[in-house]
Amino acid sequence: MEIRIFDNYEELSQRTADEVINLVKEKPDAVVCLASGNTPLGTCEWLVKKVKDEKINISKCNFIGLDEWADVPKENSGSCSYFFHHNLFEPLKISHEKIFLFDALSKDLNEECKKMDNIIAEKNGIDLMIVGIGMNGHIGFNEPGVNFNLLSHVIDLHETTITVGQKYFAGTIQLSKGITLGLQHLMNSRKVILIANGKSKSEVIKQTVKEPVTNSFPASIMQKHPNGFVFVDKDAAELISNK
Ligand code: PGA
Repeated sequence: MEIRIFDNYEELSQRTADEVINLVKEKPDAVVCLASGNTPLGTCEWLVKKVKDEKINISKCNFIGLDEWADVPKENSGSCSYFFHHNLFEPLKISHEKIFLFDALSKDLNEECKKMDNIIAEKNGIDLMIVGIGMNGHIGFNEPGVNFNLLSHVIDLHETTITVGQKYFAGTIQLSKGITLGLQHLMNSRKVILIANGKSKSEVIKQTVKEPVTNSFPASIMQKHPNGFVFVDKDAAELISNK
């Protein structure tokens, strides 16, 4: 695992977007898994800008969504699906055949998990995964206590996730379960970048990179990834940098 510290959020976002651009230049039909949330918003914005400015052909790239709130319709502006469509797929006119997201309204969420695992296997795995980190150390909805060996699964959301998750929604919403790629997907991914910014993330970043690897703090698994990167701004790096 390698840590890169950037001056600010803009630089962090630009460099993360560059990772996608460089991959697509090298491998046009790459499989990229992206997280939604406040942290990856800047990455999406820069990605849209760079693809347009540099006239990159991104039409063959496959996009996998990391997770989704169970029972939340995709039209809800707090859903992960809404985030991806609004901030990335629509601006870049990505064809629906290249988009793979969990259907959170499916009557059989376990079947959705199997479908996603099959898609990833058929596409020969994920080339690049870009993930955020929650205040409880979750990645996607891999909540504290999760089994590191799982592929896609449905999970009871942790209290912190339910409380913090309200920020994405227009009004108060009842959240109880999530559907998510598993940490085995993360370990199988050819490259993983965990991104975080702001002082509020400094403690979880410290736990991610400095504390022992444990499933009670899922993001600590990053230490085990042979091609894992933690991209942070100076504020999020406050407790891990020597300056
Ligand atoms: P955030 O979410 O980027 O909105 O802080 C991170 C997460 O919970 O994974």
